[in-house]
Amino acid sequence: MANQTTASMAATTPRTFSGIQPSGAPHIGNDLGAIRNYVRLQDEFEAIYCIVDYHALTSTHDPERMRRQTREMAAALLALGLDPDRCTLFVQSHRPEHTELAWLLMTVTPVSWLERTPTYKEKVANQPDDVNHGLLTYPVLQAADIVMYKATTVPVGKDQAAHLELSREIVRAFNRRYGETFPEPAAVFTEAPVVLGTDGARKMSKSLGNTIEIFAPEDEIRRQVMSMVTDTQRIKRTDPGRPEVCNVCQLQRFFGEDYIQLWEGERTAQTGCVDMKRLLADRIIRHYAGARERYADLMAHPEQVDGILEAGADLLRPMAAATMAEVRGKMGLR
Ligand code: AMP
Ligand code: TRP
Repeated sequence: MANQTTASMAATTPRTFSGIQPSGAPHIGNDLGAIRNYVRLQDEFEAIYCIVDYHALTSTHDPERMRRQTREMAAALLALGLDPDRCTLFVQSHRPEHTELAWLLMTVTPVSWLERTPTYKEKVANQPDDVNHGLLTYPVLQAADIVMYKATTVPVGKDQAAHLELSREIVRAFNRRYGETFPEPAAVFTEAPVVLGTDGARKMSKSLGNTIEIFAPEDEIRRQVMSMVTDTQRIKRTDPGRPEVCNVCQLQRFFGEDYIQLWEGERTAQTGCVDMKRLLADRIIRHYAGARERYADLMAHPEQVDGILEAGADLLRPMAAATMAEVRGKMGLR
């Protein structure tokens, strides 16, 4: 817990919230960096998880793709361990109050905070032909998502740290102007807050094409793992490896108990990079075998997935209505 305020609010409202974009196939970076924590926190908190389609509109413009990927992400999260009996899973646009609250929060958010957000600058560089206003206000909508349910704990990867800092600033600005209303949310990270991609250099990300996908066919997962960049200074098979800089060795930590022995094998050149990649591919496939089966099952019964999402949005209606009534009242809108 980041600070005293958050800790004490958590005692009265032990609620966790996170959002994930319906950006196509989830990769092991999503799971190791965030989804694992979603699953874990279901037992400790009242957990609310959201597929953020409004956010995705800032980069995805194909309606069919949006619909398909929203369902795929829901199935993926359920397959990876979200349990509709222990958490609420819903689609952001099914609770349109999020956009209204985002507007209200925009009026306490200086433009300069948004312009200096690193992810905004990145997006402007990545999609120079589509610098839409949603990219700028993206973090305000994210703050609205969280405070709608007065959540205090937000499981995310490290790349979201700046957004969470901004959420806290927006909360402080609102509370200062209109009186204590929202708790300050804190990010929680896993032991793998930044998972590097197959290039071994940049964070694993769908848009960079350096992912290992959880639900791809087995041979595709193998191909992705075999393409990984390892220790670039290890030229010959007999050169000693450096597990601390090799992304394949680093990932072994999350897929087996014996990584210390594996690392020793690398250091003494008993094993080579190719051996290590084969082993990692096998272990990733084995680790996610159950999830992959559940995913296939859910995708064969899309009405089940849609039902869970609808029930989630319905369940949240009174909570969202209560927050909106409180906020409108405080701002003089009624
Ligand atoms: P996104 O697909 O961008 O909505 O990300 C979903 C969640 O996964 C967010 O909490 C991200 O911070 C997290 N995440 C995405 N990529 C990585 C990565 N390479 N390493 C760790 N966490 C990640
Ligand atoms: N911005 C997050 C991402 O790209 C997704 C997100 C939207 C989110 N709303 C949120 C994350 C609220 C945590 C809490 O991954």
